[in-house]
Amino acid sequence: MSSSLISRSTHAAVRNAARSARTVGVTSRSFVSLSKFTAVKKTPSSAQRVTSTQFTRGIKTLDFAGTKEVVYERSDWPLPKLQEFFKNDTLALIGYGSQGHGQGLNARDNGLNVIIGVRKDGESWKQALEDGWVPGETLFSIEEAIDRGTIIMNLLSDAAQSATWPTIAPLITKGKILYFSHGFSVVYKDDTHVVPPPDVDVILVAPKGSGRTVRTLFKEGRGINSSIAIWQDVTGKAKEKAIALGIAVGSGYLYETTFEREVYSDLYGERGVVLRKNGHTPSEAFNETVEEATQSLYPLIGAHGMDYMYAACSTTARRGALDWAPVFEKANLPIFEKLYQSVRDGTETRKSLEFNGRKTYREDLARELAEIDSQEIWRAGKVVRSLRPDYKGE
Ligand SMILES: NC(=O)c1ccc[n+]([C@@H]2O[C@H](COP(=O)([O-])OP(=O)(O)OC[C@H]3O[C@@H](n4cnc5c(N)ncnc54)[C@H](OP(=O)(O)O)[C@@H]3O)[C@@H](O)[C@H]2O)c1
Repeated sequence: MSSSLISRSTHAAVRNAARSARTVGVTSRSFVSLSKFTAVKKTPSSAQRVTSTQFTRGIKTLDFAGTKEVVYERSDWPLPKLQEFFKNDTLALIGYGSQGHGQGLNARDNGLNVIIGVRKDGESWKQALEDGWVPGETLFSIEEAIDRGTIIMNLLSDAAQSATWPTIAPLITKGKILYFSHGFSVVYKDDTHVVPPPDVDVILVAPKGSGRTVRTLFKEGRGINSSIAIWQDVTGKAKEKAIALGIAVGSGYLYETTFEREVYSDLYGERGVVLRKNGHTPSEAFNETVEEATQSLYPLIGAHGMDYMYAACSTTARRGALDWAPVFEKANLPIFEKLYQSVRDGTETRKSLEFNGRKTYREDLARELAEIDSQEIWRAGKVVRSLRPDYKGE
């Protein structure tokens, strides 16, 4: 991107952020500086340079359709601060599926010390080699990576987290941090038998989308929405570490949740209204449904097809979607058949002629759309959208 383009888009971003802050009733705002950072991977390669434009502001509490929530953002963590925070750490990413790829490359591009641990000569090992991880330097067996790491980021498949736990648990010694991207393993501990040692911080950063999207949004200078949660805080600094790691792996905005709420909403991942009834926040309901679908899943389907989208999702998500697809199909089929009949017998045509032939068709439509607009999920969505760096108002 040319410097004039960066400058134009930076100023536009600040203007838009100021506008959005006014629109959504931000409780504290102070646009104090405008800064640009160029992140360079530790592995030197000019092709691997990522430029991101950031601006500092003090947004903390936002009003999501009447519910106030704290949101943490990347601009609170400029690169020098991030690199200083992790200067004595080695991020050991265990597993190199979709999330390992996205989070690992982003953290590496952010200039952090990242190593990968996967089983030797598996599919992930090959993928890691292709992405420039070097055996014996940044690419290790799972056990060796955990041994070398200070922050153990468990990005194995959820099933593998359970299967490998007896082997890896003893390696997670006091002083290390245990990180997950899903509440699955620890919340369902009766089934997974994943019980973290009592003397380590246990945190979660769960991106609301495929690891492929985590990567592309980062490269575009944007950032995926993620949720953060704390399972165990032995140092008293677990939350700060979760926020910093969320930014390090490429999140733009971080929403607070719990391990339980994250796993229930993610596995459920369906209609926001039902999530709200079960105690999830407006932002979580929106992020788990509309945001993830429109910002991550649909673009992947559009660009590469349905099979690619499935492959880019976790093994757990894939299983759920494949198992539930025929159930939804069976339940919905009679409705779609009814709709088709209604088209064929002219009912839909007559309704359209009647409604759109009214003198008041604009006012009548506006009334119906206003009802949708006032629904909590779409009001929460406005706040989520307004946080995007490319937000241009609505
Ligand atoms: N993908 C998403 O959309 C998404 C979004 C948010 C959070 N998450 C969470 O992020 C975590 C990682 O998910 P993911 O989608 O990136 O990965 P994934 O596809 O579910 O898992 C892939 C990794 O697990 C390894 N693995 C599988 N079985 C193994 C075994 N028996 N022993 C050792 N390694 C094994 C694979 O290595 P091999 O190649 O050697 O088989 C690969 O590195 C999960 O907790 C998931 O729920 C995923």
